[in-house]
Amino acid sequence: MQVLQTRAEARAWSARSRQQGLRTALVPTMGSLHEGHLSLVEIAKQAADRVALSIFVNPLQFGPGEDFERYPRDLPGDVDAARAAGVDVVFAPTAAEMYPQGEPWTTVIPEKGGDRLCGSHRPGHFRGVLTIVAKLFGIFHPDAAVFGQKDYQQFVLIRRMVADLDYAVEVIAGPIVREADGLAMSSRNRYLAPDERRSARALSRALRDCESLFRAGERNAEAYRERLHRASGAGVSLEYGEAVDPVTLSATDEIAKGVVCMLAARAGATRLIDNHILGTGPMASAPADSSEFDLATD
Ligand code: PAJ
Repeated sequence: MQVLQTRAEARAWSARSRQQGLRTALVPTMGSLHEGHLSLVEIAKQAADRVALSIFVNPLQFGPGEDFERYPRDLPGDVDAARAAGVDVVFAPTAAEMYPQGEPWTTVIPEKGGDRLCGSHRPGHFRGVLTIVAKLFGIFHPDAAVFGQKDYQQFVLIRRMVADLDYAVEVIAGPIVREADGLAMSSRNRYLAPDERRSARALSRALRDCESLFRAGERNAEAYRERLHRASGAGVSLEYGEAVDPVTLSATDEIAKGVVCMLAARAGATRLIDNHILGTGPMASAPADSSEFDLATD
């Protein structure tokens, strides 16, 4: 497995793969790899002949006062994990390599869908995400790119950017990988103190209850809102809890299969997000079989 640091090397690797008639898939990450990230590598391996994994803590998507400086970084550990997972190339550039002119003049700002949910709590966040993903697509020209359902709003905005800007990239979603007690895996979970870690279970519990409500036939949106808001409590303060349309991300009163229950909360100083697509069955804790995963598309 190669570890590349420059855009020129990444571009050359990708061009070589294309010349050899090989299909490439890209898995963008900010590193501190966990099983959630590695499940995306598995999906990428099934979708392509060669898999590139990028590791870049993107300053453009962090707001002032957010955790950019202390975001966990472990390149040697990540390189070992990527190698063991069967990644062909790791792309780990510096900020100066990705933004050689400093603050970019040109960015990708979502016209819709980016200002609510996480966007309203993290102004400018999705501008940073879409800009770096567009840059990675410009460098790699991958045939496919794999993103996690864990960041559902991010996934929808990226899928929409690809459609709106005509990128020739197949955008694939991977299901949420959870700890045994239901907590969605996240690089930020390592910030949690033991009591916060216990409190954090309230998020997945609320989502599990929403799936139970759905299976019991409940179709009143208020019942879901109420249940999601009950995630707030000892040690957890909710930022939002909404049932949203899977395509437009607007709050919906029409509860049906495919509606997404979305949560963001703070446990202590740590911001956590989670979601569940109603009607997709119990939430798996082990990496789920992606072939059974049916993410609503437009
Ligand atoms: P990061 O938080 O490192 O996540 C990288 C990818 O892993 C994202 O697509 C995310 O949705 C997915 N992921 C995270 N936790 C997961 C879990 N528990 N199960 C399944 N997939 C999971 O998201 C980002 O980085 C950045 O915004 C990025 C897209 C790389 C742009 O900088």
